[in-house]
Amino acid sequence: MEKKSIDFSYGLFSDRHIGPNDDQIKSMLHVLGFSKLSEFSDQVIPDDIKQKNKEEDSILSHPVSEKDILAQLRVLGAKNFEFKSWLGMGYSNSILPSVIQRCVFENPGWYTQYTPYQPEISQGRLESLLNFQTMVSDLTGLPIANASLLDEGTAAAEAMMICFAEAQRPSDRSFFISSFCHPQTIEVVKGRAKPFSIEIIVADHRSFDFSSPVFGALLQYPGTDGVIYDYSAFIKKAQEQKVLIILACDLLSLTVLRSPGDLDADIAIGNSQRFGVPLGFGGPHAAFLSTKDELKRRVPGRIVGVSKDNAGQKAIRLALQTREQHIRREKATSNICTAQALLANIASMFAVYHGPDGLRKIAERTHACAAVLKLAAEKCRIKVGQEPFFDTVLLNCSPYKSYEVLKRGWEKKVNLRAYSENEISVSFDETTTLADVAEVLKILIQKDEIPFKIEDLVSEINPLFGQHTRRSSYLKQEVFNSHHSETQMMRYIKRLEFKDLSLTQSMIPLGSCTMKLNAATELMPLSWSAFSQIHPFVPDFQSHGYREILLELATMLAKITGFDSVSLQPNSGAQGEYAGLLVIKKYLESIHQNQRNVCLIPSSAHGTNPATASLANFKVVIVACDEAGNIDLEDLQTKAQENQAHLAALMITYPSTHGVFEASIRKVCDIIHSFGGQVYMDGANLNAQIGLCKPGQYGPDVCHMNLHKTFSIPHGGGGPGAGPIAVKRHLASFLPGHCLSKELGGKDPIRAVSSAPYGSASILLISWSYLKMMGLDGLKKATQVAILNANYIAKRLEPHYKILYKGRNGWVAHECIVDVRAFKKSCGVEVHDIAKRLMDYGFHAPTISFPVAGTMMIEPTESESKDELDRFCDALLAIREEIKEIEDGKMSKVDNPLKNAPHTALACASEWSHPYSREKAMFPLPWVKEGKFWPSVGRIDEAFGDRNLVCTCS
Ligand SMILES: Cc1ncc(COP(=O)(O)O)c(C=O)c1O
Repeated sequence: MEKKSIDFSYGLFSDRHIGPNDDQIKSMLHVLGFSKLSEFSDQVIPDDIKQKNKEEDSILSHPVSEKDILAQLRVLGAKNFEFKSWLGMGYSNSILPSVIQRCVFENPGWYTQYTPYQPEISQGRLESLLNFQTMVSDLTGLPIANASLLDEGTAAAEAMMICFAEAQRPSDRSFFISSFCHPQTIEVVKGRAKPFSIEIIVADHRSFDFSSPVFGALLQYPGTDGVIYDYSAFIKKAQEQKVLIILACDLLSLTVLRSPGDLDADIAIGNSQRFGVPLGFGGPHAAFLSTKDELKRRVPGRIVGVSKDNAGQKAIRLALQTREQHIRREKATSNICTAQALLANIASMFAVYHGPDGLRKIAERTHACAAVLKLAAEKCRIKVGQEPFFDTVLLNCSPYKSYEVLKRGWEKKVNLRAYSENEISVSFDETTTLADVAEVLKILIQKDEIPFKIEDLVSEINPLFGQHTRRSSYLKQEVFNSHHSETQMMRYIKRLEFKDLSLTQSMIPLGSCTMKLNAATELMPLSWSAFSQIHPFVPDFQSHGYREILLELATMLAKITGFDSVSLQPNSGAQGEYAGLLVIKKYLESIHQNQRNVCLIPSSAHGTNPATASLANFKVVIVACDEAGNIDLEDLQTKAQENQAHLAALMITYPSTHGVFEASIRKVCDIIHSFGGQVYMDGANLNAQIGLCKPGQYGPDVCHMNLHKTFSIPHGGGGPGAGPIAVKRHLASFLPGHCLSKELGGKDPIRAVSSAPYGSASILLISWSYLKMMGLDGLKKATQVAILNANYIAKRLEPHYKILYKGRNGWVAHECIVDVRAFKKSCGVEVHDIAKRLMDYGFHAPTISFPVAGTMMIEPTESESKDELDRFCDALLAIREEIKEIEDGKMSKVDNPLKNAPHTALACASEWSHPYSREKAMFPLPWVKEGKFWPSVGRIDEAFGDRNLVCTCS
């Protein structure tokens, strides 16, 4: 009898990650005229950038199975010490309610959504983000809030830039920061100030008399030492001098303390992390920014606003500066694109779940623990810092040195903050119990017993904050007062989720966004306490597991991109661009080329490129693109030559934003280098390169990687993201450092660009797992299939739509641009009409009008199977037929399925007077019936929302 061979391996993860199976790959190759994947990709990639040397054996040579990666992560997680961290500094332990953990944090229906640029199929997350804005606006007492920023430090830097733009006297170039601000915030703001030569004055606000003029001031509320300072005199003086005031505040404390608006601050910023979001060794967390109405046009990031749809019902969408960088480019006030939508949603759900009373109770409980510690410490003759305080108590530990107390704490698995040589600060939070308070006291008095009962002190505490007590109400809106049982909460979350199209329904073919699979295995460890409960400022010996992973991730990223060093700190692509340009700047200074301040940027660049160059205070010079979408070499040569004495850098996206591999990339880099400039590569399109070519080998000096595109971190409905930068050796010394992590960064680092040393550390685990599970072969195949899928779509659509740009041998890279501009002339159909009609077929639109106005850019990624690609193509072909009916005069130009799209259930159930059937509106192809996704509102009136800005849910 023939012996049966049994495969004992767990199977390759890459076979799960890559959508098309071998038969489908073969069949698509056949359509394109090939029989082998490698033969095909060889035709697409220009010869002179192909990876030449064969890979030696490395970490990536042996793919790890899903089962084994989780086992490895368990071992590595155990190397992180789960101490109780009472370190504060803007980061607190928090309790993520299980219903939110299960239904949002761990739910692909929420985390695989894209930024809500197509609001008709995004009403759920838009409502949740509107709740976030309402919560921030109410608690800070300021009317305009945005839908999240990256972290508290960068939010403070953004706020400073608002003040700078508003500065009354152009000569004012100084900005005041209270010395009671968190150290990492001061550091990030200083870094942002440097390119503009803004002088930062860090001083005690109590003695600052405004005798030297400043254009703005940043104060921490409560201070980093825990004290609730009375800022009224300072704010009054500032207003007399027309100085704008920013309060960096603790959101939880605002439930019991006077709001920044009440104190007459102009801007409030802060971190909403303690509203249920895990610490995650620094992030991701949603920062916030709110302002007075006068400053609304300067608000960075996204603002969600209320408008109405074509049936007049309330509809929510992104307001004002939705795509600010794309419209204003180098004149944009900020380069923020990806923010922290998912974390903002978690924080707002936390407020919905607890409601105003629940939040206040958490605040009172937290304060009570701090107050008990103060009383207990005084009983033990320990000198306590100034009052009033909210959650943080400063304690004088003399005669001991603070580091001695810290060490005693470590023996008890407790982290305290050394505030000064002889002072310890202790910051409590919603997880703190009286037993924790007792434990801290024992550490302070160096005894195992306390000479009194800690519980007995509770009756002695005074829960009031005197003149600082909040008198105004907040969160009165229905949503914050309705969903407090788990059943209601679960249903509310699900109700919102069902309004949104995510990867759980169908492919999201957004060009330049790479909406690939975010595998469950990659995401699971994020919920484990070994990773989620680590404070970003724990001593190094407690974060070995994290740092081992992060070091390995940096090594793998350097290896596959061909660069020498990597910084994982930037927490978005745009932040990576910013860090990269500052690194270039510092390098140029180091070789005495300070005069170099010109940054060349092709006209096709993503809006963040010119916006970032402006933030780094470079002068932006635009380079033209030719008719084929390639960078115009002649224009590049001319511009480089004209600016040769001042040329600092070129920012280039590769493959280009037009979705092609430009054969001239080496030449482009050579031109820039020959005039003394550096080449910055925007790596948003690395999904077309990994495993086939290495940017570090063909010219670029620095490159950022959107880990939330190529490396599987989910988009979370508009964030989180991670944008590490990789650099060549000569730039390595300048990689970002961090004031609280001395060993991080290069030898002569630029200042930190993020609040936490490793930025959004916890989500970096996802990319680490992705790389290790895919292995080199899997990564290469993923790239090949991504290119195959894009070309297959282009081939299927080509007889019916114009494919705008093609590269080598007539192939596109991993995405293709479909030009639909001609339909406007032929029958009045515009790109938006097609985008909205796709929703009736159950699809998210491709990227609209980027990089070319009036076109659609499609990126299928490798994770989509041929079946799904065919469904998508069938939908677009059916839409082409619908367009033809209008062109042929068989259908009205104004009343047709495209102009009326998307069709809601309500519209289809109402009186029907259109010249096409309900059936055609609802179920334009037979398979749509099988799992109809209903847009929850009809076409939204954008202009109405901007004219009548409403950005809270009151
Ligand atoms: C080409 C390109 N560059 C830069 C960015 C900015 O990245 P992020 O949104 O992470 O800031 C994007 C994001 O869409 C992009 O497509």
